[in-house]
Amino acid sequence: MPGSWGRPVAPRAPALEKAVKQLDCLGSLRRTHYCGAVRTEHVGQELVLCGWVHRRRDHGGVIFVDLRDRTGIVQVVFKPDFAPEAHSAAQGIRSEYVLAVRGHLERRTPDAINPSLPTGEVELVVAEVRILNTATSPPFPVEDDAAIDESVRLRHRVHDLRRPVMQRRMELRHRLLQSVRAVCGELGLLEIETPMLGRATPEGARDFLVPSRVHTGQFYALPQSPQIMKQLLMVAGYDRYFQIARCFRDEDQRSDRQLEFTQIDLELSFVDVEGVLEVLEEITVHAYRDVMGVELPRPFPRLSYADVMARYGTDRPDTRIQLELVELSDIVGESGFKVFASTIEGGGVVWGLPVPEAEALSRSELDRLEGLAQDWGAKGLSWARVTPDGSWQSPIAKFMSDEERAQITERAGLRPGHVILIAADREKVVCDVLARLRVELGRRLERWDGRPWDPMFVIDFPVFEEDDEGQLTYMHMPFVAPLEEDIELLETDPLKVRATHYDLVLNGIELGSGSLRNHRSDVQLRILELLGYSEEESRQRFGFMLDALETGAPPHGGFAFGFDRLCLLMTGGDSLRDVIAFPKTQRAQDLFLLCPGPVSSEQLEELGLRVRRTAGVEEP
Ligand code: AMO
Ligand code: AMP
Repeated sequence: MPGSWGRPVAPRAPALEKAVKQLDCLGSLRRTHYCGAVRTEHVGQELVLCGWVHRRRDHGGVIFVDLRDRTGIVQVVFKPDFAPEAHSAAQGIRSEYVLAVRGHLERRTPDAINPSLPTGEVELVVAEVRILNTATSPPFPVEDDAAIDESVRLRHRVHDLRRPVMQRRMELRHRLLQSVRAVCGELGLLEIETPMLGRATPEGARDFLVPSRVHTGQFYALPQSPQIMKQLLMVAGYDRYFQIARCFRDEDQRSDRQLEFTQIDLELSFVDVEGVLEVLEEITVHAYRDVMGVELPRPFPRLSYADVMARYGTDRPDTRIQLELVELSDIVGESGFKVFASTIEGGGVVWGLPVPEAEALSRSELDRLEGLAQDWGAKGLSWARVTPDGSWQSPIAKFMSDEERAQITERAGLRPGHVILIAADREKVVCDVLARLRVELGRRLERWDGRPWDPMFVIDFPVFEEDDEGQLTYMHMPFVAPLEEDIELLETDPLKVRATHYDLVLNGIELGSGSLRNHRSDVQLRILELLGYSEEESRQRFGFMLDALETGAPPHGGFAFGFDRLCLLMTGGDSLRDVIAFPKTQRAQDLFLLCPGPVSSEQLEELGLRVRRTAGVEEP
């Protein structure tokens, strides 16, 4: 891992040295070096080190302390005959005490060398110690591999953030921010801040509202993204913008979602889709080069939404997994297996997931997969195994005609030893279940192609989709421009209208999304109309945007990276909570700050608010 304690990043050294020189809070004990930075080249020198007591060992006489700071750990030694006063002070030292020590650096004897520490060949023999602070006993060891329940980690976040692995993650996050800032600057993007107190933005989540004291009964909304503001900046002629933007969305928490998160948000004028994608590639490639030392292959593949849905059942496929879906609806429409025939008749679909060389999938394993599919919402999962003589071993084989089985075998490229999993349901369910089974089997049977990184753009998303009631709704947001050549379809077949929308997908994770926007108010109004807004309603809700478009809006488009997700991919943590210093839990709480929390009745009074303690029951 770059930037780990053992290998401080080279260009950082002068900056660190400067910071060290500026520190003078310790009187005569002014820090000269970071703990993780001392090496054999410093042997014989007098050093002053500062840090936390990682571990203390009393070897009957000599006391050893592992002293830790952001850069690593070094062993310091207290010898009773050499520095009796320091040695006696060291007897009272406990874990996490904060020390400054002065001493001379010595080479360790060969048998005492610790090859697992970069500082393992040396130790500081202490002449003077100052205990700068005591510490309560830590709730868990400040170690990388301490198996600690996450809620405990979050409740004691300060200790958790002291763990080397967390410090490495925060440092990576820092370096990633610097990399993005630098490349955006080079690309001519202006960094402009936009307000936190604004009005609702149309990203589709619930807003966080902030009550106004001055305008009692009225509310600001925290931005779900700077979407509207950045479009206004393009209309105002700023040409190219970026921002490291905090976004707030009141939605259910998952491992890849936080209430409050960070986007690398950007917008460009006078561009087409390709023009934006090239900039996104540049930023991503730079980030991986600067932070991971990885050269991502360019150009990133561009796959259409229709194509990825058909092949992988999801718009964020991990294409390193060597398994693809096949559509079987046309073959099984009249099937003797009633589940298939009736699903098709009811407007559903039947798709298969062929698994080549699937000998490892035992009968009980197939049952387990069916159980998983049911947990994910499928009604069932059929399977067939091709035997050495080419026939089907399958619970449903007897219901199907020879021809049906032969057609499926051919379509799916099945050969002896192969298995096919088949799901019949509404398209959404089938896609979801088979896409997840594909990942599960990829993992279980190790069907990866070996590439560590798999970036791609998914393009040509639909503008609209149908909601559960069959109403037309937008797939991403209402400002997305249709593809020029599909504009006519707005009048005849809106569901077929393709958008200029694109996603960046990396290793099966949606890293970000964007689009060209409607810069013509007539097209924007027509889309709003199809979404069910009358012109009057549109003007009421989005009037400021429509007015702005009418002041002379250039063609423009942009994108937002989910910055926390990018950090997560790079660090390999388990959830966004691992790459955010002070995250919220699944239940939307900060366990360290203990928020959300109550406010005083005076504050509520001032805001003109009253709280109902229990739903439906008003406080007296
Ligand atoms: P979108 O809503 O797709 O687009 O968000 C862009 C990216 O932000 C990340 N993301 C999140 N990360 C953590 N927690 C969340 N709750 C969360 N929600 C989204 C994802 C996502 O891909 N304004 C548009 C962008 C544009 O069109 O320019 C927008 O916000 O990685
Ligand atoms: P059942 O009639 O529910 O006992 O199912 C008979 C067989 O059909 C079992 O092997 C089920 O796994 C399979 N099956 C049931 N529903 C579906 C479905 N929606 N898609 C695919 N297979 C199914």
